[in-house]
Amino acid sequence: MTTTTTAPTTTTVLDASGVTMRFGGLTAVRSVDLTVNTGEIVGLIGPNGAGKTTFFNCLTGLYVPTEGKVAYKGTVLPPKPHLVTQAGIARTFQNIRLFANMTVLENVLVGRHTRTKEGLWSALLRLPGFRKAEEASRERAMELLEFTGLAAKADHLARNLPYGEQRKLEIARALASEPGLLLLDEPTAGMNPQETRAAEELIFAIRDQGIAVLVIEHDIRFIMNLCDRVAVLVQGEKIVEGPAEVVQADERVIAAYLGEPFEGAPGAAEAAEVEAAEGDAHSTTEGDDK
Ligand SMILES: Nc1ncnc2c1ncn2[C@@H]1O[C@H](COP(=O)(O)OP(=O)(O)OP(=O)(O)O)[C@@H](O)[C@H]1O
Ligand SMILES: [Mg+2]
Repeated sequence: MTTTTTAPTTTTVLDASGVTMRFGGLTAVRSVDLTVNTGEIVGLIGPNGAGKTTFFNCLTGLYVPTEGKVAYKGTVLPPKPHLVTQAGIARTFQNIRLFANMTVLENVLVGRHTRTKEGLWSALLRLPGFRKAEEASRERAMELLEFTGLAAKADHLARNLPYGEQRKLEIARALASEPGLLLLDEPTAGMNPQETRAAEELIFAIRDQGIAVLVIEHDIRFIMNLCDRVAVLVQGEKIVEGPAEVVQADERVIAAYLGEPFEGAPGAAEAAEVEAAEGDAHSTTEGDDK
């Protein structure tokens, strides 16, 4: 590793090597290596069923990988979700998992309990003797709600939030465990274009706070704007990895997507727009040929 006096030292935050996950006869993830460094936003893309979420589940201890190991800042992680969170990896889920009948603030407090001595129940039940820690927790939780733009809704029930804000709340809750690495599984799924842009800004802001990010997303434009590096999974295997512009132009990636179209496939809407625009251009410049 090279270091200079001006640039901060790059360290490896996540180092997954040879991760394989088999379900019976199906190999959902096959010998995948992936690193994420400090200060980086790394994208993980691939067609439906490629193994992206399964890989996240292997990283976070939800699944015990059939083979391979996952290290965080140089320490191999035991495959237990709470130990992984405690070590410093937080995540959001493809299918939103919030406590629907708790308030927005309470959801974030739940996210904090791995970082506080008083634990979940005293945080929620306000047991005596823990007031001070609890106040600090609430202060931090409110800070995170400000940061994610949800402070005005602190007392709303999570289930009453619109979809886009539920996704943001999941991020706020993940941040409450004070992670060094944040894993986002389709953070903009179901968002409108404005919400997607806001999510992009939020993820940049998270990175700027010194948290490395690994993000799964089908919205290729979003991924290419956001990520320093992109890895492509196809049928459980990492077929390409590199800077966004290199990956975008890679024939294997194009073939993987074209070979297996999925809902919202990259470029489909644009291609249709271009075609329509070209059609219009022809009819206005060349008159009536079609
Ligand atoms: N618990 C499980 N048991 C059996 N098979 C599973 C399990 N979890 C995932 N799979 C299978 O592993 C493969 C990869 O699924 P996964 O959900 O990881 O894909 P993905 O890339 O996240 O897809 P999507 O983009 O649709 O979310 C699929 O064939 C899926 O059916
Ligand atoms: Mg998935």
